[in-house]
Formats: sequence, structure tokens, C-alpha cells
Amino acid sequence: MQTTTVLVIDPDEACRAALAGFLKPQGYTVIEARDADSSISMLQTHHIDIILTELRLPRIDGYAFLKKLKTDYAAVPVLVVTGSASVSVAVKAMKTGAEDFLTKPVNSEELHHLLQAILAKKTQQRRAQKAECGAVWYEGIIGSSPAMKKVYQLIDKLAAVDSTVIVYGESGTGKELVARAIHAKSRRAQHPLIPVNCGAIPAELLESELFGHEKGSFTSAYRTRIGRFELAKGGTIFLDEIGDMSPVLQVKLLRVLQEHEFERVGGTKPIKTDIRVIAATHRDLEKAVAEGKFREDLYYRLNVVPIYLPPLRERPTDIPLLVKHFISRFSSEKGKPVETITDRAMECFLHYHWPGNVRELQNIIERVVILNESGVIDCDDLPEKMVRQQRSHLNTPPSSLPSEQNCSFATMVTNFERQLILQALERSAGVKNKAAQLLNINRTTLVEKMKKLNISTKG
Ligand SMILES: Nc1ncnc2c1ncn2[C@@H]1O[C@H](COP(=O)(O)OP(=O)(O)OP(=O)(O)O)[C@@H](O)[C@H]1O
Ligand SMILES: [Mg+2]
Repeated sequence: MQTTTVLVIDPDEACRAALAGFLKPQGYTVIEARDADSSISMLQTHHIDIILTELRLPRIDGYAFLKKLKTDYAAVPVLVVTGSASVSVAVKAMKTGAEDFLTKPVNSEELHHLLQAILAKKTQQRRAQKAECGAVWYEGIIGSSPAMKKVYQLIDKLAAVDSTVIVYGESGTGKELVARAIHAKSRRAQHPLIPVNCGAIPAELLESELFGHEKGSFTSAYRTRIGRFELAKGGTIFLDEIGDMSPVLQVKLLRVLQEHEFERVGGTKPIKTDIRVIAATHRDLEKAVAEGKFREDLYYRLNVVPIYLPPLRERPTDIPLLVKHFISRFSSEKGKPVETITDRAMECFLHYHWPGNVRELQNIIERVVILNESGVIDCDDLPEKMVRQQRSHLNTPPSSLPSEQNCSFATMVTNFERQLILQALERSAGVKNKAAQLLNINRTTLVEKMKKLNISTKG
């Protein structure tokens, strides 16, 4: 059973200590931060259930900070605990998105009750959201397609063990979300999750980024630096774009995975690690191994449990859920009430091929919501490429002609029939009655055809 983690943000050490002193005996895990910057890094690396923040912070206006929290970490409730005891401050804090407001000095019982009430409200909202959309929410991941449900089951299993995991998927499919979900549900949740983008950091800097360095180990090493492997102690390191790692570092990583120890650059003392490794890549690592670009031994070490995230175009049933989720999120974040989306516009979302997957969909909706004036999203609001693709979808024959010369008419018809049935089953989450309705045929006809075409709904 996980405890509730509270992030206490206050520049005054004594105030932080007092709040921690109230909370820890009640069973809460407390993480402290003294300013906006350090609290953001805590939010990036830890799973936080609730934030307690002072409004008087160094170098930033408290309300601007509150707004930032509500934009970037909308799911985490915020309780303002401040020394400025005035009604106007309380009203402004609540209007900016705080769940509630307490003035110092804090009464420990009042604080505990307020936290319980806020957390209970959040759980209720989450349940309502799940019920509304048919259990679409899983640790911040939206999607109820059979493929995503399998991913959730796998995450549940992997959270309970400590094995190395690698997440495969095209760009924007949610690999980092999956890594965060595994960490958040694991016994390591109270420790940091440290992400490292191996593709974005130049090879010559990555080694010291990962393992740290000793003072004087190279010309610009003026002081000792702690690397990400040390920062992740007790938690999880997320090695994103692992396929881009240089061969030299691949050897070093292999050693960490095998021996659970490493040395800082220029150091001689081995440092023991207690961390879980989750890696991700959009590359085909097996191919990279065959081409000699990725070490085979490292590949097997990482590939203990692979998770494959399907591209968005292969799970069309998730598209309407994601569209609605992002419309509601961005309309509340941007203060632009968008009421609805027309069926025609939704068709455009369904038929677009989504090369950038969920990230692309999210970005498009953010832009559309910002620019929208009418409160209704229609085709005119969408990027031309989406509308064009929808038009060509309507104009082309359903199955394009095959390139193989010897493919008979009958084979083409069978292939098309198979495609239609698979699509209907995907859209109806495998429920045959619903799939038959979508295809406008009897259930028995559908079952016969499935038998003939060897299509099963299991697995
Ligand atoms: N199923 C989902 N539900 C909600 N949001 C999602 C989902 N999948 C992805 N996103 C959002 O899309 C964006 C991209 O997700 P993420 O960074 O996890 O993808 P990625 O696979 O790591 O991409 P890349 O390979 O480009 O790093 C994020 O903002 C994430 O919150
Ligand atoms: Mg990523």
C-alpha cells in the first residue's frame, strides 16, 4: 500500500519542518522544496499526490507560480498555506486554482482533515471520469482499446517486480508516460524517477551526465559532480532513446546492469546502485544489433520485458477519447470554453494517419482550442492536411489495388472483408453484437465470416 506523498513548498526552513512534523506521524511521506525551481524538479522526479505551498516565494509571484502548477501539473491538487491572512488573498488563490487555503500558524488536525477531504474529492473525480469514459484513465494514460488494456495489465505486473523494462513505440506514443506509470505503481514510487534523454545529450557529455565526475578529471571539471545514476538512488532511471547511445557508453551501461556498480568519470571508487532501469526507444533495436550499431549483450540485458506501444493509427477507438480529453483539458487551462466537436471534424481525426501519434493530436487540439471562437470545433478549424486526408479517404475505393500481379479478385475481396471486420471489432472493443451493428450485418453472419477468415477476438 502506497503512502500519500506531500510536497511542502516554503522558503522558511522552520515552517517546512513544522509542517513535516505534523504530517509524518500521520503516515504521509513529505518532500520539501524551498522555492519554485526546486519544487518543479521535485515534481519532475517524484510522484506527488498533493502540494502544500506558501504564496510568498523568492523570485516569483505566488499566483503566477500557482497558475503554472495548475497548468503543468493539473492533476495534482494544491493547498495554499500562507502567512498572509486576508480574505482577498484567499479568494485570489482559490480563483487561481488552489483547492483550499490555510493560514499560519497551522493546526495539525485541521490540516489533516483538509488533506483527507481534498484527496477524497480527487479520487471521486477520477472515478467519475473513469465511469464516464469506460475506464479510460490509467495513471494519466488515456485509452481503452484492447491494445492499451493489455499495456495496462503489463504495467500492473511490472510494477510489482523490479526487472529491467524496455518500451518500444513510435515517437509520441506515450513511452515516457508508461515508464512513469510503472515507477509510480512500484515500491520505488517514493524515490525519484530520473529521466535521461540519451539521444539529446552529446556523447562526450553523456558519460559524466550519467555517472558524474570527480573534480579535476578533465579540464572543465572544476568540482565533483553527481551523476543521474546516483541521483536515482532507490528509484528508477529512465533511459530514453537508448538506441542512440554510443558504443563506449553501451559497454559501461552493460556493466552497471550486470554488476550494479559504476565509477564516476576520473574516479576509482566503485559506487553501488540500487535502481531500476527502464529504457525506451523508437528504433528497431533488433535491426540495430544486426547492423552492428547496438551491442547484442546489452540488447538481451535490456530486453528482459519489452512493452510495445502501438501507434495511434492502429487503435482508432482511443482517438475520440483522446480528442475529448484534450479538448476538456485545454479549454479549462486556456479559459476557452469549447463545448463540442462536430461529427465531421471527429471523422477527420479518425482518418488522419497520425505520424506524430498522441503528441501530434495533443498539439493540434491545443492550437485549435486557442484559436477557436465559436465554442464548436469543425473541419474549418483543423489543419488542411487532416481535412485533405479525410477527403481522399472518402474518394478512394476502400481497398487499394495490390501490387502483386497474381493477386486474384477473390483474394482482394477477402482481404477487404477481413479489414472491415477487424476494424469493426477494434471499434467495438471485440463485442460481436456491436461490431455486427457497425457493419450492418447479422451477428450470425459476422460469426460465420470470422470463422471462415480465421479471426478470433481473443488474445
Ligand atoms: N495515451 C495517452 N494519454 C494521454 N496523453 C498521452 C498519451 N500518450 C501520449 N500522451 C501525451 O503525448 C505526449 C508524448 O508522450 P511521451 O513523451 O510519453 O511519448 P514518447 O513515446 O516518449 O515520445 P518520444 O519518442 O517522441 O519521446 C506527452 O505530452 C504525453 O502526455
Ligand atoms: Mg519520450
